Amino acid sequence: MRKKLLLGNWKMNKTRPEAKEFALGCGEMVSYAVSHGIDVGVAPTFVCLDSVLDNAPGDLIVAAQNVNEHPSGAYTGEISIPMLQEIGVKWVILGHSERREYNGETSKACNLKIKALLEAGMIPVYCCGESLETFEKGETKPFVEEQIKTGLADLTPEQAEKVVIAYEPIWAIGTGKSATKEIAEDTIGHIRGVLKGLFGPVAENIRILYGGSVKPGNIAEYMSEPDIDGALVGGASLTLESYRGLIEGLVG
Ligand code: PGA
Repeated sequence: MRKKLLLGNWKMNKTRPEAKEFALGCGEMVSYAVSHGIDVGVAPTFVCLDSVLDNAPGDLIVAAQNVNEHPSGAYTGEISIPMLQEIGVKWVILGHSERREYNGETSKACNLKIKALLEAGMIPVYCCGESLETFEKGETKPFVEEQIKTGLADLTPEQAEKVVIAYEPIWAIGTGKSATKEIAEDTIGHIRGVLKGLFGPVAENIRILYGGSVKPGNIAEYMSEPDIDGALVGGASLTLESYRGLIEGLVG
């Protein structure tokens, strides 16, 4: 049985006082989610990670939005795995379409980061998803399949089981134009099939999230689909009120 997961991706939003305010205010809803067997978390910017960790309940998952695969060295502007571990971060989002587009992040680069995170006992949330052009050409499945195969190359089934996948069609991110639950399930079911081919039966234990214009009003629809295990949410994860609405939608 896969545990449902809600992960808020704050992107480049919130100052430290704003992040602290959210952390201090989310206690009750986090307990509510946990008591219903749901994992919940947020991914603040690097400078807000410690503030959220210090002020939120321990049950709130706190994820970074990127990491470098090298432990230390001459990599200006980068943050290493030991640095995240030292402040208590255990989860990292990788391969988000915005990082692929604006920072040249490739599936191959993600693969190095995923392997380094798993070796450090951390949890990667690996994002995949196609552009509008790819979607309209009907090439979503082979495109996403390639992202999965390259990003998760060389993992053992035991390692793969720990990874969380997020399927986020680029045309649905921040556009208000969410994929229908049928489209999301079709692609996510395909991803699970690809995982089965790569890793065998453990694919049934790998959590796959949908992301792209998920809101309190539509999250429940996705949860009714058999292969969708939760959501990666941007805009609607930023306020406490909206975040509470997402949890309520997940609990159903
Ligand atoms: P959105 O972003 O919910 O604002 O569409 C989702 C994401 O980019 O993870």
